[in-house]
Amino acid sequence: MTAVPMLDLGWQHERVAERVRTGFDRVFAATSFILGPDVEDFETAFANYCGVDHVIGVGTGTDALELALRAAGVGAGDEVIIPANTFVATAEAVVRAGAEVRFVDCDQDFLLDSTLLSAMITERTRAVIAVHLYGQTADVDSIRSAIPDDIILVEDAAQAQGARHRGRRAGSLGDVAGTSFYPGKNLGAYGDAGAVMTSSARIAARVAALRNHGGLHKYEHLEVGTNSRLDSLQAVVLSAKLDLLDEWNAERVRLAARYTELLADVPEVVTPRTVPGNDHVFHQYVVQVPERDRVLAELQTNDIGAGLHYRTPVHLLPAFASEANPVGSFPVAERLARHILSLPIYPGLSDHQQDSVVECLRASLLSSVAVPPISVGARRRCPPTG
Ligand SMILES: Cc1ncc(COP(=O)(O)O)c(C=O)c1O
Repeated sequence: MTAVPMLDLGWQHERVAERVRTGFDRVFAATSFILGPDVEDFETAFANYCGVDHVIGVGTGTDALELALRAAGVGAGDEVIIPANTFVATAEAVVRAGAEVRFVDCDQDFLLDSTLLSAMITERTRAVIAVHLYGQTADVDSIRSAIPDDIILVEDAAQAQGARHRGRRAGSLGDVAGTSFYPGKNLGAYGDAGAVMTSSARIAARVAALRNHGGLHKYEHLEVGTNSRLDSLQAVVLSAKLDLLDEWNAERVRLAARYTELLADVPEVVTPRTVPGNDHVFHQYVVQVPERDRVLAELQTNDIGAGLHYRTPVHLLPAFASEANPVGSFPVAERLARHILSLPIYPGLSDHQQDSVVECLRASLLSSVAVPPISVGARRRCPPTG
């Protein structure tokens, strides 16, 4: 039985190691660690890749979203609509920008349900964040048509580097976007990093100042900013990996199609759908299964990595819970959260490893009636794969 980690970045590192080492040596020789030419080169390359006029490298994806909101003029007294099923950072960014979070439910494809938006718009609504969850874009066209023109459309593209909506890349579909280069992302750094993407020169200039203590030059502080700059070493890694991103995303798509094929005869498993018009990049491959917690425990007991993205919708997390949003407020997000299961997917995952994941998942679902739940410490092996 092959152990399969949920994520293994070693394969990716081997492919860029030499270029990263050379780049690091150059940065060490220049002793230029914050911003500088490597960051500018990456910002230009990523802007061309995404099809936007400006990319501003920042410290994290959370900062990218916060600074995108602030630069677009979102602040105290404003409401920002976000889907209830996202990583907590989407909501944190809104609060850190000084605004108030308004949650909306998702659809069956895990994406913001645009049909619910018009009823939620108030005179305080200032922005909607379309989260491109798991690697495919939210329906930005329907979102745009459901909201007044003066409401800012922000993309949370943290999980969607390279994804396309009707041929256009994630990051170029709204007024401004934020992305994360957390190591496990499709385009991952060797530490925390993020970026803001926009074709608005005004928003770009403001983000560039906000990330650098509110000014573009040393000791210039035009407004209260923060310290959230992309560093040169991360830019070296990101430039090296960007050249391989399309190839690596294509491998994710191949693996996703293979999972879907291998699971086609397991009626208990609902496999993910790519929405027509989208090019999915499968940051996560998320199935829905009955008895999810038991199945997850069984996979883990058998050294098969699996994850939950996310176990609890944001409106039910202690940090964001409120009487305004009791259990049942966002039924689709809450139901999906009980059934979702993320299977390992990354370039470097072998077909043999993938077969092990599928066999273990299949065995675990078959055992749902015949075998009582495993006790703590017990180890029931899944059948070996050929
Ligand atoms: C959907 C989403 N938004 C925002 C973030 C925040 O990015 P970071 O961890 O780089 O702050 C993440 C990262 O996990 C994410 O998945």
